[in-house]
Amino acid sequence: MSMPSVRRVAQAFASALLAATTVTALAHDAAAADTLGSAAAGKGRYFGAAVAANHLGESAYTATLDREFNQVTPENEMKWDALEGTRNTFTFGAADQIVSHAQSRGMKVRGHTLVWHSQLPSWVSGLSATELRSAMNNHITQVMQHYKGKIHSWDVVNEAFQDGSSGARRSSPFQDKLGSGFMEEAFRTARAADPNAKLCYNDYNTDGVNAKSNAVYAMVKDFKSRGVPIDCVGFQSHFNPASPVPSDYQANLQRFADLGVDVQITELDIEGSGSAQATNYGNVVKACLAVSRCTGITVWGITDKYSWRSSGTPLLFDSNYAKKPAYDAVLAALGGSGNDGGGDDGGGGNPGATCTVAFTRTADWNDGYNGEVTVKAGSAPITGWTVTLTFTPPQKVATLWNGTPSWDSSGSVMTVRPASYNGSLAAGASTSFGFTAMKNGSNTTPTVGTCTAS
Ligand code: XIL
Repeated sequence: MSMPSVRRVAQAFASALLAATTVTALAHDAAAADTLGSAAAGKGRYFGAAVAANHLGESAYTATLDREFNQVTPENEMKWDALEGTRNTFTFGAADQIVSHAQSRGMKVRGHTLVWHSQLPSWVSGLSATELRSAMNNHITQVMQHYKGKIHSWDVVNEAFQDGSSGARRSSPFQDKLGSGFMEEAFRTARAADPNAKLCYNDYNTDGVNAKSNAVYAMVKDFKSRGVPIDCVGFQSHFNPASPVPSDYQANLQRFADLGVDVQITELDIEGSGSAQATNYGNVVKACLAVSRCTGITVWGITDKYSWRSSGTPLLFDSNYAKKPAYDAVLAALGGSGNDGGGDDGGGGNPGATCTVAFTRTADWNDGYNGEVTVKAGSAPITGWTVTLTFTPPQKVATLWNGTPSWDSSGSVMTVRPASYNGSLAAGASTSFGFTAMKNGSNTTPTVGTCTAS
């Protein structure tokens, strides 16, 4: 090794040390304040936001996204008009930008949406039935294969039912030319295109028990009984005074979950302000947490400034990215600690809870290694745990199992909370999570922080 390169290595080492120190300090701040994503992860859920690619260059937008959320849904970039404006010519650029931003930070991505009557290019509506069928199947297949392995759930069909009391299917090129069977065909095509993605039906005005949600319920029940692939149902949850949070919201989520599908709140926004808005938001979060198959919540945007219904100020951050009372209500409902700078034990509900942590490398190869982290409860039972691992850049975690990761903005500090099934441990009992890290030239073992129990 020549002298200059030795110096370069030494400099890199010194700045890595500096970076590691800074990162640790940040991580402590984050733990005290808590965030939506980390609080939701503590409950085995994600907390996400709809994201627009054209705002990712705005530092306050991206900083808020990266700090608070661990799931994203592209707001418009994966719609048919955005991806296939011309038949069989696919333009993935803007959607890819969101996906790679999310992936590099360990955020999940919901694909939205494959088959929908709206934001549909006019060439699709002009096709004959035979051509439409093949265009629909081609669209689903091409898009899903492009994103294979990168999308946790797809809204395969969006908004296919009419509002009001009829319970009928909405008129659309798909419904009108292919008949109701288009939905079954879309789901079957989607399963074949990416067998590992969760396949969802998504709609609005289906949040409470009513004629429209009854019609969706009947369809899901029918799909389940005939083995048509469906894994999840999304409830958009766009609320305002004319369309408030229904009193039977939780019961409605639960009856769908009881059919054997996961449920998610996919496009939450609630018009209003102050404590009334905050109470509504808190109630929505509590309803999801009360349904074990409600696996995550996505708000339809980050800031009121860019909301699709901006004048109704329906989101959690105001147009200057300040946290609103609704934010505090959501964080509190998720068991987060708020901004008081105090402890981060989720409200001190389990005072005797402690845990310890042990790390082993279980496999090693040229450019990667597997790590296994065992979490052991102390002398009292625990209901949750948090472990922080600090990696040496440019190492990257490629995949993680049996835990829910979230990342700080540097991408080097990974906070892991339980998966939906391994947060509760009896006194002295243990559980393990594992991950694969890409070395990218660094073979350093991550620093494992102390275990925090709740
Ligand atoms: C909205 C976007 O937020 C707007 O930017 C766009 O102009 C229209 O679509 N239901 C859905 C979402 O499934 O895709 C819609 O998003 C909101 C209603």
